[in-house]
Amino acid sequence: MNEDIRNELPADQNEDKARLERIRNRIAAIDLTIADALARRMDCVEEIIGYKEEHGMIIFQGDQEKKQRKVLRERVAGHKYEDEILDVYQEIIKSSRKVQARSLFSYNIMLIGFMGSGKTTVADYLGRMLEMEHVDTDEMIVNWMGMSISDMFRNYGEAYFRNLESNTLLALRERKQLIVSCGGGITLRPENVEAMRSRGVVVWLTATPETVYDRLHLFTDRPLLNGNMNIPYITKLMKEREPRYVNAADVRVPTDGLTVHEICEILVKRVLEFQKNRAG
Ligand code: S3P
Repeated sequence: MNEDIRNELPADQNEDKARLERIRNRIAAIDLTIADALARRMDCVEEIIGYKEEHGMIIFQGDQEKKQRKVLRERVAGHKYEDEILDVYQEIIKSSRKVQARSLFSYNIMLIGFMGSGKTTVADYLGRMLEMEHVDTDEMIVNWMGMSISDMFRNYGEAYFRNLESNTLLALRERKQLIVSCGGGITLRPENVEAMRSRGVVVWLTATPETVYDRLHLFTDRPLLNGNMNIPYITKLMKEREPRYVNAADVRVPTDGLTVHEICEILVKRVLEFQKNRAG
């Protein structure tokens, strides 16, 4: 509204406008306070990461997050904006995890290992734990082709699938700070191994043939195991593949008998140790 018209408004309407301006100014000032407080909060998060790294402490202490959430819940309990405040707090927690991840991992985390070693499950969980994007090479291929991996093997053969698998790594060439769960056979080609190692830390998830069988025997979506879903065959194929995994892996993480949370904690610790040794 231009000044001339405002001046022509009756006095009480002018007063009303001024009130609106004052409220808007208050909001603007509060926003600045929030922005400053958030920046200070993020600084603290980075400081804590530094401290934990220095003292070799576990990075993700879920208990601390829970404690913090409880304090906040109590503070807003019964408040008319309780739900909204807690929603915003949830987003703040997510952003803090991003800050943590950014200061910890500037590279990609590539997960390799035999079928059923838990790559996809671990990558998914780790992605949420660190607020990092999770990409799955099998899923990329299925999306590109619009057909299942079993159909691809049947219609075009394994070699065709392996070419697409190599292409996933090419497609991810410029990406950083991803968690990539790779198909169990990705290490069969030396050029794939080179591509993975040059762009991230390669983590080998291990599992015994018995564990693999337990995890997979009800599924039919692994063409290499269809008709071969038994422990002796899994043991044989795993033995054949083992040197490839050994050769590709920067770190090794066991998965037998562990929860996904425990696996992720070991993984983060080992990746950071590896990174520290590589840098030093
Ligand atoms: C394969 C593993 C599968 C999938 C394809 C071939 C392999 O991925 O890429 O069936 O050769 O080990 P997962 O390891 O995710 O099951």
